Amino acid sequence: MSDMTSAAAPERLDLAALPTLESYGYDGGREALRRFCANVFQPDGPRFLRTGGGALVLFRHADLRAMAAEPHLSTLAPAQMFGGLLTAPPSDEPPLGFAMADLIKNQLFSSNAPLNPILRKILLNQIGPRPTAALADSTRRLAGEILAARPTGTPVDVVRDIAEPLIGRYWGALLGMTDEEALSAAVEARRMTPMLFLRQTAESTAEADAAARVYRATVEQAVGRSGPGGGCPLVAGIAHDLAAVDIPDDLDHGGYVPRTAGAFLAGNLFDGFHTAALAAANTIHVLLRHPDVLDVLRIQPDRIAAAVSECLRLEPPVIHLARYASEDIAYDGHVIPKGSHVTVMWGAAGRDPAAFPAPDVFDLSRPSQGATTFGGGAHICPGRFAATLMARSLVEALLDSGLSMRRVEGPDDWIDNNAMCQLRHLPVVLEPLAVR
Ligand code: HEM
Repeated sequence: MSDMTSAAAPERLDLAALPTLESYGYDGGREALRRFCANVFQPDGPRFLRTGGGALVLFRHADLRAMAAEPHLSTLAPAQMFGGLLTAPPSDEPPLGFAMADLIKNQLFSSNAPLNPILRKILLNQIGPRPTAALADSTRRLAGEILAARPTGTPVDVVRDIAEPLIGRYWGALLGMTDEEALSAAVEARRMTPMLFLRQTAESTAEADAAARVYRATVEQAVGRSGPGGGCPLVAGIAHDLAAVDIPDDLDHGGYVPRTAGAFLAGNLFDGFHTAALAAANTIHVLLRHPDVLDVLRIQPDRIAAAVSECLRLEPPVIHLARYASEDIAYDGHVIPKGSHVTVMWGAAGRDPAAFPAPDVFDLSRPSQGATTFGGGAHICPGRFAATLMARSLVEALLDSGLSMRRVEGPDDWIDNNAMCQLRHLPVVLEPLAVR
């Protein structure tokens, strides 16, 4: 048994006796997250919760930070995530959900040690802090070009007309995609959103499956062209490193070894295309509500990185993810029994007043240490450098563009029933600053 503390005789956590997540108002999506945080972060609020399905829910910042370091709080492997879908006997008609499962099994999200650190390193060699920082100038230029190409004086949608082209073309340039392919990959990644719904139907699964097929084919086709000898160092690097992996597949815990650079990239860049676009849109959403902050950033552009971090704390793209206890885990006087499913609510922890006083307030001076936007511990998001670079570049380009951006009045358009804080649309109007 792994022991996070020195406390004697910890007690087995009685999951069935915990209050439910739903009773605190959470049923998926950004509005529900807000409701949940207002209900649960009260002086007499609970320490732990459970889902209707019986998973332990961790949502307090201190608990999530401590548990992130626990090696046996494992990620769900493909078989746990997708049941027998991947091992069903072959048939002419693949089962519902197969295209998604067959894509996501290639994502290192669904692997544990010893495979996970090896695959992480392969990805980080290409998209870690150093290679990403080298793209700062070209990303800002790209964001500037996209803004300059949008019409002024008439509504444009930040989600579809700005964030998706930016994110699509960022990855597209690295993967040797045409602009059309790059945009298509971003759009299809968005169409896969029903995969992240808390309550799925046959129809929503079929929709996500259809999008997963197109998304994957688009990425794999480009990567196939630009692989070794095709002039794309990122693709060549991944293909080279992947060929050296010598670990057997283990769909039940360890994970699956992608067979090709195309499969590796399609799997791992799902978040690259999808979640990074949410980050860019959510950042703009928050800044448009805080024009005072934009004014400060205009004068002090060195604070843009801190502003993006605060935007993503306030509107975290990822609300929650699933884990499980692969051994009994002793934690702070409790034992989380082996086999328990655990929901980790990274997005709620960023709004825990014990860690972030006055959590609804945008505070540009707030230290970003301890942020849980990108998770924590051994599985912390390897795409965080790229995602924040893109969001930062968009803000820089906007402030440099000579354009003002104002939101079109109307209710916010968040997608509910979702594990993410995701805007369906964010209509804005761009205007030359001089006529503001
Ligand atoms: C703002 C945008 C993004 C957010 C908020 C985000 C958030 C997260 C979170 C919360 C985790 C789980 C960490 C944990 O369990 O400790 C994660 C893992 C991961 N993210 Fe991201 N992510 C974003 C963008 C990206 C991008 C751009 C990529 C790819 C290029 C990416 C690829 C991954 C992968 C592969 C993992 C699994 C890591 C592992 O299991 O070792 N993410 N992300």
